[in-house]
Amino acid sequence: MPDAAPVTITESPLKSICSRITRGFPTAGNKASARAISSPPHRLSRPFARNAHMRGVSLVGTMETRLDGQTAVVIGGTTGIGRAISEELHAAGASVVPTSRTETSVREAAEAVECDLVEPTDVTDADQVEVLFEAVAETYGDIDTLVNCAGYVPDAKPVPDVDDDEWATVLDVNLTGVFNAVRLAPSYLTGEHRSIVNVGSISEDTVMNGLGHYAASKAAVRTLGEYLAVEYADYDIRVNTVAPGYVETRQNRTELETPRIREAIHKGTPLSRYAERGEVADTVVFLASPEASFVTGERIRIDGGFPL
Ligand SMILES: NC(=O)c1ccc[n+]([C@@H]2O[C@H](COP(=O)([O-])OP(=O)(O)OC[C@H]3O[C@@H](n4cnc5c(N)ncnc54)[C@H](OP(=O)(O)O)[C@@H]3O)[C@@H](O)[C@H]2O)c1
Repeated sequence: MPDAAPVTITESPLKSICSRITRGFPTAGNKASARAISSPPHRLSRPFARNAHMRGVSLVGTMETRLDGQTAVVIGGTTGIGRAISEELHAAGASVVPTSRTETSVREAAEAVECDLVEPTDVTDADQVEVLFEAVAETYGDIDTLVNCAGYVPDAKPVPDVDDDEWATVLDVNLTGVFNAVRLAPSYLTGEHRSIVNVGSISEDTVMNGLGHYAASKAAVRTLGEYLAVEYADYDIRVNTVAPGYVETRQNRTELETPRIREAIHKGTPLSRYAERGEVADTVVFLASPEASFVTGERIRIDGGFPL
């Protein structure tokens, strides 16, 4: 057997990959990049990002993420983060059915996303959830995306002070509500790009004073999502979770507008601000899109680096 020709290694594949990844990052030998150290990129781009979301402009939209022909149901999609999710899914081309308990909110959100179906739904009531899916299927046919965003954020208190009613409400809305919806997914999510996105919270793995009951409900949803990602792979349904950090909504506005709290949270957040609702929505649009076709069982924190 002839000797193999000698191999000359001029650069290891790993080194070459590393140099591609690090190209442009600040290093001692890279003067152009080193300038970025005194002028961090996020400080430059932040006003753009913030203004874009305040204007309701989706940055994902600018990347041509399209959901044309898809149908999405957004439970808890009428106010706050869920409303932004409904609007951005719609802006990306999907037919969107937003719902929650309050008829006026449902009507208003439906109007905003040009949806004819107004079906107020209490997610804690399994029958109502089934009526919702039936109505969406009748009106739009195949459903592609289910977003579970309905949530109840209780008052912060130590666990021994949480009474039975409050514990039950937290679990009913945040956990049983998700269960009521996701168990119907194999029957109704029959579109081409099937996926479920659950809205969790960074409290699942970042301890926040007085939110043990809320965090427990959200952590359970995260775990349920991981199991579903495996079980629902047989149905071609991807299942992912987004975990927002602090986002100003009606649930927490008073607290987050308090200067002392605002300052403390901004200080603990590398990007030194709260998240915009549109930033959570952008991530949901990505997860619902064909671009995320191999992403399942994943959880994405949208927290500006808090609490690094
Ligand atoms: N804001 C934050 O900082 C933050 C951070 C992490 C995670 N989250 C999560 O993000 C989600 C949205 O919260 P948000 O801050 O945007 O507050 P929000 O504006 O109050 O949104 C909550 C939504 O859930 C709906 N809802 C509540 N109970 C329901 C039920 N039983 N059945 C159906 N819908 C119900 C509400 O509408 P109706 O009242 O009309 O039912 C509303 O549309 C929640 O899951 C929350 O836990 C929020």
